[in-house]
Amino acid sequence: MIISLKKTIVIFFVKENFQITFLFFLGLLFGCKENTNQKELQRPEDSRFIQKVLVEGLEEPLQIEFDQKGYVYWIERVGNVKRFNEKTGVVELLGTLDLTKETAPGLIGILLDRDFEKSRQTYLFYSAAADNGNALRLSRFELDREDKLDKASEKIILTIPWEQPDGQHFGGGMTWDNEGNLYLSVGADSHPTQYAPLPFENEGGRGEDEARTAGNTHDLRGTIIRIKPNNDGTYSIPEGNLFAQNTPKTLPEIYIMGNRNPWRLSIDSKTQFLHWGEVGPDAGMDSEEFGPMGYDEFNVAKGPGNYGWPYFIGYNRAYNSYDYKTGGYGEPYKPDSSYNDSPNNTGLQILPTAQPALIAYPYQVSEEWPILGSAARSAVGGPVFRKQDFSTNAERVFPDYYEGKWFITDYVRNWIMVVSMDEQREKVISIERFLSANMLAHSQPLDMDFSPNGDLYLVEYGIGGQGKISRIEYNKGNRAPIAQASSYVLNGKTPLELMLSSKRSMDPDGDQLIYNWEVKEVEGNFSQSLSAENPSLVLKNAGRYFIGLAVTDSHGLTSMDSLLVIAGNTRPIVKLKVLEGNQSFYFPDGLIKYEVSVEDGEDGNLIDGNIRKEEVSVTAQYIPSGMDYPQLEALDRQGNLNPDIKLKHLNAKGLIQKSNCLSCHLEDKKLVGPSFRDIAERYQKNPKAMDLLSKGIMEGGSGKWGDITMPPQPMLNSQEVSQIIDYILEINLANSSNVKLGTSGEYITKGFPKRTSGGRLDSYFQTPLEMGSYVFMANYLDKGSKEKDGLNLMGKDYFLLRFPVLAPEDADYFSEEGISFTPSTNDPGFIFTGKGGYIGFKEIDFTGINQVKIGAPNRFWHWSHFVGASIEIRLSSPEGELIGKPFTVPPAPKGEKGPFFGEAMGRPAVFDVSKTQGIHDIYIVVKNLQAKESDALLMMTGIEFLK
Ligand code: HEC
Repeated sequence: MIISLKKTIVIFFVKENFQITFLFFLGLLFGCKENTNQKELQRPEDSRFIQKVLVEGLEEPLQIEFDQKGYVYWIERVGNVKRFNEKTGVVELLGTLDLTKETAPGLIGILLDRDFEKSRQTYLFYSAAADNGNALRLSRFELDREDKLDKASEKIILTIPWEQPDGQHFGGGMTWDNEGNLYLSVGADSHPTQYAPLPFENEGGRGEDEARTAGNTHDLRGTIIRIKPNNDGTYSIPEGNLFAQNTPKTLPEIYIMGNRNPWRLSIDSKTQFLHWGEVGPDAGMDSEEFGPMGYDEFNVAKGPGNYGWPYFIGYNRAYNSYDYKTGGYGEPYKPDSSYNDSPNNTGLQILPTAQPALIAYPYQVSEEWPILGSAARSAVGGPVFRKQDFSTNAERVFPDYYEGKWFITDYVRNWIMVVSMDEQREKVISIERFLSANMLAHSQPLDMDFSPNGDLYLVEYGIGGQGKISRIEYNKGNRAPIAQASSYVLNGKTPLELMLSSKRSMDPDGDQLIYNWEVKEVEGNFSQSLSAENPSLVLKNAGRYFIGLAVTDSHGLTSMDSLLVIAGNTRPIVKLKVLEGNQSFYFPDGLIKYEVSVEDGEDGNLIDGNIRKEEVSVTAQYIPSGMDYPQLEALDRQGNLNPDIKLKHLNAKGLIQKSNCLSCHLEDKKLVGPSFRDIAERYQKNPKAMDLLSKGIMEGGSGKWGDITMPPQPMLNSQEVSQIIDYILEINLANSSNVKLGTSGEYITKGFPKRTSGGRLDSYFQTPLEMGSYVFMANYLDKGSKEKDGLNLMGKDYFLLRFPVLAPEDADYFSEEGISFTPSTNDPGFIFTGKGGYIGFKEIDFTGINQVKIGAPNRFWHWSHFVGASIEIRLSSPEGELIGKPFTVPPAPKGEKGPFFGEAMGRPAVFDVSKTQGIHDIYIVVKNLQAKESDALLMMTGIEFLK
């Protein structure tokens, strides 16, 4: 299974109508008739679900809650409590807590009272400013008459000391059981480590020794707490926690101990069992000295228990015992007789028997559950679906198929899985993906729960206003049809004969469809309705015509599509031909010899002289940030590939729009901040402009232009910032980036020195030059129609030359299996797994290319257990003609620990391709037939084409 970067990016821009087109394809794939056999419940088709983004631009949203009136409540780490009205879509800020968020976790937990409609009380878990970052508190607040958070109503229920200023393990999951007991997950308050965090250098093991917290029966950190809040703001201890009340050296609030970073909690309403996801440590391989590699866990607890950390991980794999006196390691701990002899322990020495995880998965592909993928991991948790949790009025409750199944999600792997378990919840029967990768537009999910209406809500974390809340709705009834109108001919001389086609329209339920075509002249009176499926039509008069297709199913649901047709003028055909030079890549001092031809139905051509050379625009543009064909083609489809387009700054403008800069800056006018033109003027001649402005944008600040503060922009990387600055500084320059060329001639491409570095490819496959792109484009706008003004049409042709280093994730084809790559932030590894797989690139020109170099280290960071593989380059298909000799990457040397960079990552695989000529699709095939499904073979960094 592969999630390609490109696909994921595309899905982020998905609008509802695109989604429908997408459903069309899914419908084709899965559109089999529903089974009438009721015994075996059928998994619902993906096309029955739709994801809708409800709120965007949020600042670090973390957790979600629902009331019974249709409000969705959530918290943001920065201290905000907000809600969203499901009916009106209105978002309200209910209040902002005074808290410490730089040196403490911030606001990390919310739970509405079980009787919220009456009591109007909510529980919040946060690092209050009054505690100076040294504690986390669980407090109860009330909403006032205006539904605002009444901060004066705070009743502090529980205070937990907190030591680690930048620790990432803080939990914050909260839920209720049927008895009115409140559960709260608390992280182990330490730095992340590779193996068991037992050694320490700090006094008291602060931020290091997790035996002092998770392994300590007298500490609430690294546990799941279970308490019963009382009306007066105190709480009592329910029966059945881990330690009987008044047991010396224990705390009675502890229900579960031995947790590292327990995240979202849910109670199965039928069994009352507690379910949670928990993030494990970072080691990518077992160590003889320390013990097992790291695993993330999904856990189910039927009662109180010790879940093992920091002595055990996953299915109770034991770490080697640590000797606090000698600092050495000995025999592994034993689950039924583990002990805590840390000098920082304030609790019992002998610990309760350790419990194993229900599901444990490492960095590498899990042998047991390969569907969970590989590379970075971060188990979150999620709800158990029970139909009984929803009222009969709930509109979109998921189908019976999901009864009793557990929906789980992982913060970095970008999936939602559905787990089927046995009655006892001791064994997993199956794990399946919920919706295909392409249907889910979520990234960084941090909470997931069903609303009273039956929708599955997702909270997607993000800094710098990248956070989102969306929901997945189930449609059990009729699905809308999909309308697709097409016509071979879209323009031409009058009379223009059209054969319209609705053939690509379809209905996911297989309903009979009714077709209605409407033809309307845009600036005239002509209009006509047609009801045939595929009607023909003659347009006698020159003009622009809108042709709409409405497709209606037997339940009356309608979808529309449309075409724009021009009668009275034919679009010119422009061809931009390369006569000499490589057509895929540019090289320093590379020669491109080219020629343009134009042929227009009305105007004539370049050769007969009826079209003059000056009327044809030919340009070459260099784009420092690079560009690829899908981007260019998208611009073309949007009608933006005109001769004046400045491709160079397109990326920067996109970033500026996406980052909300425009709410404070305009190009030409002072707004909250200075205009970009004024910034350009002030810094134009300053040789340090790039550095100064980089700092200005990344870190924000005030005083240079006035008193107002510019907020820091942490979500932009240095490469993106330098693109933005390039754009700002060049605002006052004339359009220098488009070089105007003749209709035939020669062009010498250049290599540009690198100014900034960043990005996955650049980090692991370093090049001395900037990885830019050249775009060559020829345009001709014809003279239109003699019959009517304004019908001019543009013909164009273009080609792209890329820097001769490609990233594997930018390939055009991927094998279904054998590749593991999560395109989440900072995931370095494009990893081949199992018996191998392939990637393919479309139309690579081998003209002048003698060698291909592939970066394929067998050692890297968490992945240093690579078993090696052979790499082949083949033409046209994964089984096609072999070019050069296969290259063997050996297994990683044993016993060495990461991280590895630069030369230590191993030498690249080198291929002699000097005998290959012309343009080919190429496939890079990675194979190791001896490898196990769970093996990782190698990491691919980059593919370089050399002269
Ligand atoms: C909330 C309003 C706000 C937003 C959003 C904002 N800015 Fe600013 N920006 C300002 C203000 C105010 C200043 C002037 C700060 C000063 O006086 O030092 C400024 C200054 C700048 C400067 C000049 C810095 C210097 O060192 O002179 C640059 C460049 C800039 N912003 C770029 C951006 C970009 C790019 C974004 C989006 C990623 C952005 N700004 C988002 C308000 C904003």
